[in-house]
Amino acid sequence: MTAERIAPVIAALPVPVLLIGQDDRVRASNDAVTAILGPNLVGNHYITAIRQPAVIAAVAETRMQRISRHVRFTGRDGANDTIYRVAVAMAGDDIALTFEDQTAAEAVGQMRRDFVANVSHELRTPLTALLGFIETLNGAARDDPEARDRFLGIMSDEANRMTRLVDDLLSLSRVEEDERVRPREQVDLGGLLSSVIKALEPQASAAGNTVALEIEAAGTMVPGDAGQLVQVFSNLIENAIKYGAQGGAVTVTLKPRKMYPRLRGEAVQIIVADNGEGIPTHHIARLTERFYRVDSHRSREVGGTGLGLAIVKHIINRHRGRLLIESEVGNGTNVSIFLPISQGAGVAS
Ligand SMILES: Nc1ncnc2c1ncn2[C@@H]1O[C@H](COP(=O)(O)OP(=O)(O)O)[C@@H](O)[C@H]1O
Ligand SMILES: [Mg+2]
Repeated sequence: MTAERIAPVIAALPVPVLLIGQDDRVRASNDAVTAILGPNLVGNHYITAIRQPAVIAAVAETRMQRISRHVRFTGRDGANDTIYRVAVAMAGDDIALTFEDQTAAEAVGQMRRDFVANVSHELRTPLTALLGFIETLNGAARDDPEARDRFLGIMSDEANRMTRLVDDLLSLSRVEEDERVRPREQVDLGGLLSSVIKALEPQASAAGNTVALEIEAAGTMVPGDAGQLVQVFSNLIENAIKYGAQGGAVTVTLKPRKMYPRLRGEAVQIIVADNGEGIPTHHIARLTERFYRVDSHRSREVGGTGLGLAIVKHIINRHRGRLLIESEVGNGTNVSIFLPISQGAGVAS
C-alpha cells in the first residue's frame, strides 16, 4: 500500500502505532504515538525517535527473521516513567510498532510484591523472637524457673501478635471480597455503639481513659452489616484509646446529617474524638494504606497491625459511606464515619 493510502488508516487508530519502512524511515504515525515519541516523525529515521537499544534490536531481528515479537519501552517525558509493551510486527515489507501502556498493570504487580514483602516482614519479627526464646529455653535458661516464666510471657505476646496479624489479613481479604455486595440488614447504630464501648471498657480503663457516648439521633437505623460495623467502631475507638492521651477522654457522638453533600440523601455521622497528640497532616491521607503507621514502633508496642484503617475503609466503601480523618498536632484527632440512612443513597460519584 502506498504511503498516501496507509497514512489515514494509521491516523484513525486509537492505539499508538508507528509504521517503519524498509529504509528505516517512519512511513506513518498517529496522534497517539506522537504523544509518546514527540512530533515530526514521518520521513525521519525511526532511531531518532526511539533511542532505546532493546527496541532497535527488536526491529532489526523482526526484519531479519520476519517473526513478530514484544519488547519493553520506557516513556520518559512527564514526572513519572511510563512503561509500554511494544508489539513489533511485519506489515507487508514494513514494520509496525504498536504501543500498549503497562504502567497500571505493573503498579498492581508492584503493590502485590510490596504487600507480600510487608506481610513477610511483619511475621518474621515475632518468629525470630520466638525461635530465639525457644533456643534459650532449651539451653541456658532450662533450669531457671524465673527466666522461663518471663520468656514464656514474651513468647505468648509474640504468638498473639502473629494471631492478630493473620486475623486482620483474613478480615481484609473477606472484606475486599464482598465489597460490591450492598449490606441488607437494618442496624440500630446507638445500640451497636454502646455494646462496642462496653466491650472495650477493660482496655480503656487499663489505659486510664474514659469513653463517653453521646447520642443525638436516638433509634437511628441504617442499612448495614452489624458484624462489620462492630469491626469499624472497635477499631476506631481502640485507636482513640491507644493513640489518644494517657488518662484522656474519648467521645463517640452519633448525630443526624440532613443531606450530607457527598452522600445523596439523609445520613448519620459518627465521630470518634480523642484528645491525644494528633496526627501530622502529611500522614493523614495515607493512614488507610495497608501497614501504614505514623510510628510503627509505637503501633507494635500497643499491639497494632497497621491494617485496621485499611479494613475500615473497605467496610465503609461497601456501606457507600465516607471516612473523614481530621487532626491537628497537639489538639487530638476526630475520625468521622458518614453512613447513608436509606438503601438507595450513597456516595455521589
Ligand atoms: N486516634 C489516633 N490518633 C493518632 N494516631 C492515630 C489514631 N488513629 C490511628 N492513628 C495512626 O494511624 C495508624 C494506622 O492505624 P490502624 O490502621 O488502625 O493500625 P494500627 O492501630 O494497627 O497501628 C496508627 O498506627 C497510628 O499511627
Ligand atoms: Mg488500629
